[in-house]
Amino acid sequence: MFEIGITDLQGTERLAGKLADLLRAGDCVIFSGPLGAGKTRFVQAICQAWGVTQDVTSPTFPILNMYRADNFSVLHIDAYRIESIKEFRDLGLEEYFDEGVALIEWGEKFAQEFPDRLEIAIDFSGDEGRRFRFHPVGVWTTRIAAGVLI
Ligand SMILES: Nc1ncnc2c1ncn2[C@@H]1O[C@H](COP(=O)(O)OP(=O)(O)OP(=O)(O)O)[C@@H](O)[C@H]1O
Ligand SMILES: [Mg+2]
Repeated sequence: MFEIGITDLQGTERLAGKLADLLRAGDCVIFSGPLGAGKTRFVQAICQAWGVTQDVTSPTFPILNMYRADNFSVLHIDAYRIESIKEFRDLGLEEYFDEGVALIEWGEKFAQEFPDRLEIAIDFSGDEGRRFRFHPVGVWTTRIAAGVLI
């Protein structure tokens, strides 16, 4: 577990760009944090770094947006309305997770479905300031440290 604080939107974009370099097909990142904390903004910045040309918007309804990056697809999920592991399983999305990078907002309710995952909790810290708490799980414990993101 490590923490990174930033002071403005550019800080979020820089951080997301560094993380984008580390992600590859099969990966799962789970974002949590209050409404408006910047989960979608972070996903947008990752997708921008990957050269995604489609609009990256909050997929609250429908629950899933799929984008094309150069070498993989991006599964952008907003699980705000999903209340249980069963509900998540019933969506039947497993087949997509191997070939794409999953970026999941509000995914903490079923995080354990992904034994290898990077959890990022975002909190407000002033107006444009944000605090990012990184919780690597499984293989992520050896794949990431604060140093590579600063
Ligand atoms: N440092 C920052 N990082 C991210 N967003 C910021 C920052 N400073 C200001 N913002 C603004 O905060 C808002 C974040 O909205 P966003 O939709 O990304 O939140 P969210 O966490 O996805 O919300 P929801 O829970 O509704 O899905 C945007 O309007 C963004 O421009
Ligand atoms: Mg959002």
